[in-house]
Amino acid sequence: MSDKPWGGRFKEGTSLAVEAYTESISFDSVLYAQDIAGSKAHARMLGRQGIITPQEAQQLIEGLDQVRAEIESGSFPWKRELEDVHMNIESRLTEIVGEVGKKLHTGRSRNDQVCLDFRLFVSDCLREWMRLARSLAAVFVRRADENRGVLLPGCTHMQPAQPVSLAQHLLAYAWMLKRDVERMEGCERRARVSPLGAAALAGTTYPLAPEMVADELGMYGVFDNSMDAVADRDFALEALFCASVCMGHLSRFCEELIWWSNPLFGFVTMSDRHSTGSSIMPQKKNPDVAEIMRGKTGRAYGNLFSLMTIMKGIPLTYNRDLQEDKEPFIDSDKTLRHSLSLMAEMLDGLEFHAGRMKEALSRGYLNATELADYLVGKGVPFREAHRISGRSVALAESRGAALEDLALADFQEICPSIGKDVYAALDYGTAVSRRNAHGGTGPDPVARQIEAMKLWLAG
Ligand code: ARG
Repeated sequence: MSDKPWGGRFKEGTSLAVEAYTESISFDSVLYAQDIAGSKAHARMLGRQGIITPQEAQQLIEGLDQVRAEIESGSFPWKRELEDVHMNIESRLTEIVGEVGKKLHTGRSRNDQVCLDFRLFVSDCLREWMRLARSLAAVFVRRADENRGVLLPGCTHMQPAQPVSLAQHLLAYAWMLKRDVERMEGCERRARVSPLGAAALAGTTYPLAPEMVADELGMYGVFDNSMDAVADRDFALEALFCASVCMGHLSRFCEELIWWSNPLFGFVTMSDRHSTGSSIMPQKKNPDVAEIMRGKTGRAYGNLFSLMTIMKGIPLTYNRDLQEDKEPFIDSDKTLRHSLSLMAEMLDGLEFHAGRMKEALSRGYLNATELADYLVGKGVPFREAHRISGRSVALAESRGAALEDLALADFQEICPSIGKDVYAALDYGTAVSRRNAHGGTGPDPVARQIEAMKLWLAG
């Protein structure tokens, strides 16, 4: 007979190659805390429901506490032949408490057990991601607050478009992170629902009390359909999507930092602590952290697609394919945690060069829209104003000059309605401060955004 916990009907043991191929203990031992918490809640419920005696429940709970202590002290004897975290813990529990250990699995299957553990694990991770994303948003808000008066070229198509305040640019990322957190909040509410009581797939004959378990574990509710409960992993997919979108946001900022730190831009200097050198070119200071983070975004997307693909073809209910849900998730969890906290550090240590940003403003005709708007103010229809401004840009460009360097006579030759007051309109600071409408880059909407963000961060 096989000596596996499920070995009753087997004549022979599994081959070593199969054991190595099918085990999950090498990666699912990270679920130990959730597995033990779930088993304690299950044992307590079994005792309260009279399925086992209260004394037996107590013995199981104390045994599980001891298992946890062994795991945390590093003395726990993990065994690959016991396949996964669930059977390792149950088997050690039975060694510690004796025969009563074998009662723990009453009314439970590994199918609802693993799903409970994973739902707890995923929702615990989501909570940590939310904490880290909020901390990073706070750094964006603080750096925005410090740089309200700094202007730089805002781009579309990576071409100079209109002047914006650095605060507005940084706040854009704070809003993205806020939505990331809100997306994670919604996901966490759906993930933290207990499937325990679904048993293998069809529900159970024991008078279990699933709500009692869910309550003890701080979950928001219980499953409605036993087959759905053990079969779906949409909560993990959703969490992987949350991680992917958040990584995508970080990656876009990484891309900007990489450009901005190039001396041709010279908008920022990254701290030495967050840069690396070249082994051959002594002058180099490379933005490797930002590049690796941009690269790791690919992993996060890959992990989402791994699980999407795993899920698409499996019939109800539990299939062992589902064991493949853990590694991609664990990888994305690590990737996102490290990226969020490193980005906070990197942004904190970033030096902004307001002078270089200001210089760049005069090199991209970023005030061409201002000239058009100025003409609209003089009664010129916008399409016409756009054309006049374009001709002025062409003239300035042919002289290697900025718009504000053109003489009044030059302007008037193109359009006689242009007066001396055009120079005030062409001022970059004026362009920014005039954009005071809702959500714009002007000082008032920027101040309101900072207020709103601070309120959210304090809440
Ligand atoms: N290690 C398994 C997993 O991660 C646990 C559940 C096994 N269930 C089963 N019926 N073989 O999915």
